[in-house]
Amino acid sequence: MALILAIESSCDETAAAVLEGSNIKCNVISSQIDLHKKWGGVVPEAAARAHVEAISPIVIEALDAANVQFSQLDAIAATNRPGLVGSLSVGVAFAKGLSISLNIPWIGIHHLEGHIWSVLASDLHFSGNAMCLIASGGHTELVRVNSLGDYELIGSTRDDAAGEAFDKCGRLLGLPSPGGVSIQNEASGYSGSLYPLPIAKVGPTEFSFSGLKTAVLQLVSKEGTQLDVKKAAASVQNAIVEPLVTKTIQAALHCCLDCVTVGGGVSANLELRSRLEAECNRHGLRFLCAPIELCTDNAAMIGLAASLRFSQGKVSSLSEDVAANSPLPR
Ligand code: KG4
Ligand code: ZN
Repeated sequence: MALILAIESSCDETAAAVLEGSNIKCNVISSQIDLHKKWGGVVPEAAARAHVEAISPIVIEALDAANVQFSQLDAIAATNRPGLVGSLSVGVAFAKGLSISLNIPWIGIHHLEGHIWSVLASDLHFSGNAMCLIASGGHTELVRVNSLGDYELIGSTRDDAAGEAFDKCGRLLGLPSPGGVSIQNEASGYSGSLYPLPIAKVGPTEFSFSGLKTAVLQLVSKEGTQLDVKKAAASVQNAIVEPLVTKTIQAALHCCLDCVTVGGGVSANLELRSRLEAECNRHGLRFLCAPIELCTDNAAMIGLAASLRFSQGKVSSLSEDVAANSPLPR
């Protein structure tokens, strides 16, 4: 089995993992959350500088934890698109440098391809033929996954991504950042729409979350100190999870697929996972999701996609660069 070192640095996490085939030997992450807290969002220049500081120690930590030497590696993978160009460049330059010095291939991985194939950690034999919901801080997409590199975009958001909606609403409710996990924690024990919040009426495979944050802003100013934050958090969670579940199931049935998968930071949400699973069971569909720690950005998912690509001889040339935006790969 090929030994692969994988790096993820597309936003505010510097992460490295070592895989032997699809077996994750170690997965380490250095988060910049505390660094960016004071500015209220990720500052690209600061993120890139922090990646430069973190990347060597994190790679060495990963290799040590896996008990693997540089000389044993068969390939090195790094996220090269989409994301913050300065942040991506740090991981990609590091990967290319190692590739040249060790004389092994490098593999540039599309970040969303990493999220799609993160479910391999739950089922080593997953090979596609599934409707995949990708829900993260920057993306909300329904992708028909036929096989590695064979993807069809079935639907996406018109405006905010699901994770962005969680984060913005969390901020409006005065909850700690990132809002997704804070809203989930506050909502614990409550369910349903306890305060009436809108679910956008858009196309059958489209999402829209920008109206939700306006409604939450109005709710917060109307209720003032009377606002029950726990009930409001449950209502927000319901307004985001409900359309994600309904439309993913409908898309799978419409495309005659018998498997639903989910990836991206929002797929760590327990309400989303349990409702998707329940609806899949009700419709006789298989449901696959990654372990919670592989839902938010990490390098193991990049390694899983890279391991598949490497096994099919799909490696990158040194001229392959980073990109801020990019469609799913072939
Ligand atoms: O995939 P990810 O780590 O980064 C991007 O590629 O964007 O996703 C981050 C997003 C954030 O918006 C975060 O609030 C959300 O995932 N998230 C959650 C949960 N954990 C992370 N949203 C809802 N519930 C969670 N438990
Ligand atoms: Zn992500």
